Amino acid sequence: MCTELLVNAALEAGKIIRERFRTEGVEIRDRRAAADFVTNVDLMVQEKLCEMIAPAFPRAAVIAEEGGEIESAPQMIILDPLDGTLNYIHGYERVAVSVGYWKDGKPAAGVVYDPLAEDLFQAACGRGAFRNGRPIRASGYQTLGDCVLATGWPYDRGEYDRVFRILDGVARTCQEVRISGSAALNICYVACGSLDGYWEWDLNPWDMAGGAVIALEAGCAVTSLAGGPFQALGGEILVSNGHVHEEMLHTLREGGWSIG
Ligand code: IPD
Ligand code: CA
Ligand code: CA
Repeated sequence: MCTELLVNAALEAGKIIRERFRTEGVEIRDRRAAADFVTNVDLMVQEKLCEMIAPAFPRAAVIAEEGGEIESAPQMIILDPLDGTLNYIHGYERVAVSVGYWKDGKPAAGVVYDPLAEDLFQAACGRGAFRNGRPIRASGYQTLGDCVLATGWPYDRGEYDRVFRILDGVARTCQEVRISGSAALNICYVACGSLDGYWEWDLNPWDMAGGAVIALEAGCAVTSLAGGPFQALGGEILVSNGHVHEEMLHTLREGGWSIG
């Protein structure tokens, strides 16, 4: 079964992340924006994932953060070797390996692994979502007033005005908002009910693809920020427990979110 292979690859990749965490073995190799870094660990982990996964999916396009094209294909392996690189550099324990498999334009399998907490999320289409082998479901809260939500900081600081405007409305409506620096884990935390909703834009496919499969299988609503169909290559995601999705869409609109 393909999920098993993705899980094994994520576990192996996770060992590299764990071994080098908070050591002098972490070297910055590139800085693409003020808070967007590439380390030797990102590169090593991606190499390990590709080496283990690519041969098993000869017809799939591999879309990976550290190099290669972002182009839609009938079969895609979409991977982020280290989601939360800034956290990793600072020794803050919120990082994950994320792998999504999309077939015929549809989510087929997803694995997100936090190697520091040894927390493994996985799902295959139609077979449910699991955290460390146990089934997970989204929360049951019905109004944002009962919810804890999450979002993220776009690397493009030209987006900050919009971030603050939206955050102002959302933060005053829900219980609190978390910003912890890993899109993949945020999505999985909504999937298992630890968070009730998460929104972010200016994202890449590898930030979302693995988590989106897990969230869908856990019964979450997963859409664009305007409520349209979620697109793996679309750059944005709104994921919620489903009950508060309309209220979240309304709050985003009130904060000035509009398409484009
Ligand atoms: C980032 C994280 C962060 C999100 C950024 C992503 P990276 O991924 O998921 O939470 O706010 O937009 O790019 O660069 O650490 O793989
Ligand atoms: Ca990422
Ligand atoms: Ca990354």
